[in-house]
Amino acid sequence: MIEFDKNKKIFNISNGSISYFIYVNSEGILENLYFGKFTDKINLEKRIKKQDNYSTQYYDKKENVEKMFADKFSVKHSLFEIGFHNGGDNRPAPIIVQKNNGMYDTNFKYISHKIYQGLPIFKSDEPHLTGGNAETLEITLKDEFSDVVLIYNLSIMLDKDIIVKNFILKNDGSNNINILRAFSGQLDLNSRKYKVHHFYGNWGNERNEEVNNVLVGEQVISSNYGRSSHEHNPFIFLTKNGANFTIGEVIGFNLVYSGNFKYSIFSDYTNTTRISWGINDYDFNWILEPENIFVTPQAVISYSKNGIDEMSHNFHSLIKENLIQYKKEADYKSILFNSWEGCTFNFSTKSIKDYATAAKEIGAELFVVDDGWFGHRNDDHSSLGDWFVNENKVNLKEVEIHVHSLGMKFGLWFEPEMISFDSDLFKKHPEYAVGLYREHPILQRSQLMLDLTNDEVIDNICCQMVRILDSIKIDYIKWDMNRDIKEHFIERLGKNHQGEMLHKYVLGYYKLIGKICKKYPDIMIEGCASGGGRFDLGTLYYCPQIWASDISKPSTRMFINFNTSLGYPLSTVGTHINNSEETSYEEKGMLSLFGTFGYEMNPLKLTEIDKKEINNIAEFYRKNHKDLFENGTLYHLVSPTKNNYMVMQVVNKTKDHSCLIVVKKEGTINKTLKLRGLDFKSTYKNDHTKYNGQDLMENGFEFKMNKPGVEIKLFDFKK
Ligand code: DGJ
Repeated sequence: MIEFDKNKKIFNISNGSISYFIYVNSEGILENLYFGKFTDKINLEKRIKKQDNYSTQYYDKKENVEKMFADKFSVKHSLFEIGFHNGGDNRPAPIIVQKNNGMYDTNFKYISHKIYQGLPIFKSDEPHLTGGNAETLEITLKDEFSDVVLIYNLSIMLDKDIIVKNFILKNDGSNNINILRAFSGQLDLNSRKYKVHHFYGNWGNERNEEVNNVLVGEQVISSNYGRSSHEHNPFIFLTKNGANFTIGEVIGFNLVYSGNFKYSIFSDYTNTTRISWGINDYDFNWILEPENIFVTPQAVISYSKNGIDEMSHNFHSLIKENLIQYKKEADYKSILFNSWEGCTFNFSTKSIKDYATAAKEIGAELFVVDDGWFGHRNDDHSSLGDWFVNENKVNLKEVEIHVHSLGMKFGLWFEPEMISFDSDLFKKHPEYAVGLYREHPILQRSQLMLDLTNDEVIDNICCQMVRILDSIKIDYIKWDMNRDIKEHFIERLGKNHQGEMLHKYVLGYYKLIGKICKKYPDIMIEGCASGGGRFDLGTLYYCPQIWASDISKPSTRMFINFNTSLGYPLSTVGTHINNSEETSYEEKGMLSLFGTFGYEMNPLKLTEIDKKEINNIAEFYRKNHKDLFENGTLYHLVSPTKNNYMVMQVVNKTKDHSCLIVVKKEGTINKTLKLRGLDFKSTYKNDHTKYNGQDLMENGFEFKMNKPGVEIKLFDFKK
C-alpha cells in the first residue's frame, strides 16, 4: 500500500511487514523519514525537533535577510532520498549533471507524483523486474538550476520485503547536458552501526566474504572491468549490531546490471550512513540531447528484521518470480555433462560421441560440447568470431543426432562478444575489434573484445549464431565471456561520446543476448565469464543459471557456493562434479546438489566405483531436486569465512524433507548444530535414527567428521 497524506506531505509506503516514509519538505526536497520494519506511526515533529540544532540558514535575496527553512531541515544532517550535488550536502549525490553553462549543482525538487499497481513498465528490452504484485510511487522532480526532469520510481513488493528503485533523467531543455553520474538509488540510514559485507575475488576464487564497519569517510565497492563481478559482486549487505543468520536487522542491495557498478558507502560525524549505487561513474559521461531520456538500471533493496537468511530469501524469491524470464524456468533441470574439463579443445566426432555415450551411463540428460567446435580452433589463440563448424575436426550434426538418439538434450558453447586476431572475421573486419588504436592492444586469453556498441557487429554475430541454431537442434547454450574491457576508446562514437562506451557495451550485450532469447525461447542459456565473472541480476534476466567458477574442488567451491547463495538462489549457481582428487565422487556430488548439478570430467576414465557413486547421487538429484533444492528454503548455518567448514540446510515446502550438507576443509569437527525450518511436532528419520523436530531445532543435531583433509557429509531427514 502506498498512501500520500496531502496535509503532512508524507508518503507511507508499506506492505504490512516493512515501512518507508518519505516527506516532501518545505523546499520540495524528498526526505527519508523512516525505513525499516513495519510501523504505522511516524512522528514528523520529532524529526523537526531533532534537527533544531542543525537547521540550515539561507539568505533571502528578496527581503535581504537571513532565514531558516520553513521546517528547519538541515542540508548536512537530514536523510534525503536524492542527495543534492553542492549546496551544502557534502555526502555523495546519486546524480551529477553538468549543464550547458558548465554548472555542476543539482537540486531536484518535487513537482508531482502518481501511484500505481505493479512494477514500472520498461519500454526497452533491458533487464528489469516484472510482475504485478507490487505498487509503485512515481515522483517527478525538477532540477532547480536547469530543465532536467527526474523521474524517481520507487516500488514495494507486496509479497516480499523488497524495494525497487530507479531514476529516469529527461532533458526538457534545448541544450545538451552531460550526465556525469547516474546512479539508480540512494538509501540514507539514521545510524552508522552497521557492518558492510561484500564479496571479492578473482578467476577461480570468486566471492570471498569481506566484512568491515561502515567507515567514516567513503568506502567504494565497484567494478571498472567493464563487467561485474570476479573482483567484486554487485550484491552486498549491511548487518546491524551483530545481526547473524537468524537475528537482527539486515539490509541487502543489488543492481539489475552486468557492467561497471559502484557502491558508495559514506558516513561522517553525523553518524548517519548514505549508500548510493548504480552504474559506475568511472569514465562515464553521457550526453543527453534535448527531449531524450536516460533510464538507470533497477536498484534492489531487501530488508530483513530476522537476520541474514530472511534477506537472502527475499532475493531468492524475487529472482525466481520476478527476474528470470526463461519460460521453462519452472521445469525440471536436466543433469548437465560439459565436455570442457574432460577434453578441452581435443576431440573428434568419434571421441566426443564416445564421451556422450559414457556421459549417458552416469545419468547425464543434457550433453554440452564446450569450446573448440568452430572456425579452426584447436587452442585459445584463434577463431573467436567465426561461428561456423570446424568441419575438419568435428561433424557437429552427427554429434547432435547421436546425443539426441541417446535421449539426451544437446548444448553448445559460444563466446559471442569476442574476436581472435587469427579469425576470418578479424581479417574482414578489423574495425569490429576494440583496442586497435593502441600500438600494443592488450590481449587477454589471446582475444580482443568486439565492439558491441555497433549494431552492425551485433547483427553479424547474431546472423552467424542463427545459422548454427537453425541447422543443428540445440537445447542449451553456454554463453561465455573470457576477458574484460581494458580499452574503451572507440573512434566511431566521436570525441564527445567516449564516456558512453562502457554502458553502451552492456546495452549491446543485452541487445545480442535478447535477440537470441526472443528467437529461441526454448533454448536455455547459461551465463559464464571465465567462471563467475558476470554473476549478476542483469545476466539472470536472460540466463536462468550462471557458471559460478572454473574451480570445482570442494575446498574452494564451498566458499563460492555458500557466499553466492546468500544473494542468489541455488538454482542459479552453476555447479559440477569434476575430477578433483580432494574427495570421492559421491562426496563431490553432494556439494553439486547445492547448485545446478552436473558433470565435468573425462567420463571414459571413471572406474566402476566412480560410476556407481555418481549414479547414486544422480538418482538422489532426480528425486529431490525440484522439491528440495529448487523450491525449498535454504538456510545458511555455518559460514566458511571464519570456520574450517560450512553448513547449509534445505527444507522442502511441506517440511517433511530436509537435507543438511557439511563441507569440511581440514581438521576435525565435533559439533551440535541447531537445525532450522522443520516442523516442531514431527519426527524425522536420518540414517535409521529418529529425531524430534523440536529437539533438532532447539537442542541441535550432533555430528562428527574426522577424515583427514576435505570431507563432505549429507544428512537426509525425512518425516
Ligand atoms: C571459461 C569457462 O569458464 C570454462 O568453463 C570453459 O567454458 C572455457 N572458458 C572454454 O574456453
